[in-house]
Amino acid sequence: MDDMDRENETPEARHVSRKTVLRGALAAGIAAPAVLMGGPALARTLTGPAAEDAEPTPMCDDGDGPTVAQIEGPYFKPNSPLRSSMVDGSGVALTLSGYVFGRGCQPISGVLLDFWQADTNGAYDNTGFRFRGHQFTDSRGLYTLTTIVPGLYPGRTRHIHVKAQAPGQPILTTQLYFPNEPRNNTDTIYDPRLLMNVQTVGGGRQAAFDFVLNVAQNPGPTPTATSTTTPPPGGGTWAPGVAYAAGARVTYGGVGYVCLQGHTSMTGWEPPNVPALWRAG
Ligand SMILES: [Fe+2]
Repeated sequence: MDDMDRENETPEARHVSRKTVLRGALAAGIAAPAVLMGGPALARTLTGPAAEDAEPTPMCDDGDGPTVAQIEGPYFKPNSPLRSSMVDGSGVALTLSGYVFGRGCQPISGVLLDFWQADTNGAYDNTGFRFRGHQFTDSRGLYTLTTIVPGLYPGRTRHIHVKAQAPGQPILTTQLYFPNEPRNNTDTIYDPRLLMNVQTVGGGRQAAFDFVLNVAQNPGPTPTATSTTTPPPGGGTWAPGVAYAAGARVTYGGVGYVCLQGHTSMTGWEPPNVPALWRAG
């Protein structure tokens, strides 16, 4: 059995397949706004009409719990630029997209996703921000990253690093992997539950991965952040709805904070709640 066959037959690979089914349902436009507003749970939407309402809300994680965490590694840097494209003309084009769900299988908007990876030669940019960038899931819980296939470096299989954080929730730090990579079998960090679904399209690759964050979701409205508050003039005290730049200083609850990543603040993203965005000091 060669490497490709072994990976294709693992139970873990089938987990990815099920998430792909869920993702496909969303992409087909099945009641996405209703899902976002707390309508029928996603899996139930797939399987039948509202007559099945008495059933418990299915999980979208196949019983394994939320997307597993992995080590950060030595190359994370805060202050990555806000961008969904990290291409610079080098390497094999890779488009990675997917949804971010909570435990109730409902997509979550406004999730901060911070990606970093090696360049096509397997090197990280530790002085600048090549192949580093963060973005937020849109109103449908969708993200798209335009990048390149990362190169290999000694001791590891091919991978992409990511931090994911829903508003007001803990950070998930993990890594995503490519199927059919020979080094997957020897990399002790590699986890097949984190395999992307990767297709070759033209001269590039299209990859899909849906995250499931450990965020409780009830049948009611999802805890997505919204803001109707008008920020106070002059700043100084943290407020929602303000476009803060990296390096901006605010106070919140009598404590000073420094902004680590440019973003527009939201209720639920108060500085103590989002260490990816604010550092006390
Ligand atoms: Fe790495």
